[in-house]
Amino acid sequence: MKLEIKNTTKKYSSKKYALHNFSLTIEKGILGLLGPNGAGKSTLLKMIATVNQPTSGIISLNKNNIIKDPNYIRKQLGYLPQDFGVYPNLNAYEFLEYISAMKGIGGKKLKSRISLLLEDLNLIEVANKPIGTYSGGMKQRIGIAQALLNNPKVLIFDEPTVGLDPEERVRFRNLISDLANDCIVILSSHIVSDIDTIADRVAIMNKGSLIIEEVPENIIHTISDKVYEINILKEDLASFKNSYMVVSTTRKKGKLSVRYITNSPLQNSIQQEASLEDAYLYFIKSK
Ligand SMILES: Nc1ncnc2c1ncn2[C@@H]1O[C@H](COP(=O)(O)OP(=O)(O)OP(=O)(O)O)[C@@H](O)[C@H]1O
Ligand SMILES: [Mg+2]
Repeated sequence: MKLEIKNTTKKYSSKKYALHNFSLTIEKGILGLLGPNGAGKSTLLKMIATVNQPTSGIISLNKNNIIKDPNYIRKQLGYLPQDFGVYPNLNAYEFLEYISAMKGIGGKKLKSRISLLLEDLNLIEVANKPIGTYSGGMKQRIGIAQALLNNPKVLIFDEPTVGLDPEERVRFRNLISDLANDCIVILSSHIVSDIDTIADRVAIMNKGSLIIEEVPENIIHTISDKVYEINILKEDLASFKNSYMVVSTTRKKGKLSVRYITNSPLQNSIQQEASLEDAYLYFIKSK
């Protein structure tokens, strides 16, 4: 499996690039796609899912140009869009049967496949109720289930963990890790902790461009000697932020403990073990 995005650009209007000369090759495994709001994550994923076309550039799967031949990827694709809409009057079974019909999935095993997915996503108990009565997290899980219906080889989840509680996040992570053996899985998020324990590789993007794509360890390594913590007075925080890249602040007995990234730490700073979160902020803020 090889998904190649080459020099791809997307403009929704004449002035602004949503994606600018973006190139990335994705092979089997889980890719975590990180970027702040408006970075272009959904734009990229929509183009891979062939619901949107690039202004220029090529996207190919196993050397097949999917802009010219979208059916090649559609047959093996599972896609959870960020703004996934559901049919409120259908129950979970009816909804998944409906999606199956649209995807041309049928056969004797369909019913058991649907039941298995509903079990995997912890929806069996509510499966006979109309989806309109589900909580946000339950709706999100039915969206995840529909993406998995056809045993896809390319799985695209745009912000899959939005609305999931901590327990369901863990369940989702386990489900995806089990699936990823010989598939391409792309998960987008702007929350680092959602992807850092499951992603084999991480791509960080901002303002329509790719900043870095690497295994997480190598991304963290780029700042491994740059993360420090120091105690400062509350009233000094604003000026501190002007001079240093602050990752987080914690209040401790009237003082502030500040985690920051720098090449030249202040005296009394204590070096910290760098995390993917630190690296993400570093790349987003400095580029
Ligand atoms: N249909 C559209 N028409 C015009 N501009 C759009 C459209 N969709 C996205 N954009 C613009 O393209 C840029 C990238 O948006 P995109 O939705 O791809 O970002 P994102 O990384 O998915 O953000 P988020 O984290 O908020 O989901 C933004 O500036 C956005 O305003
Ligand atoms: Mg998005």
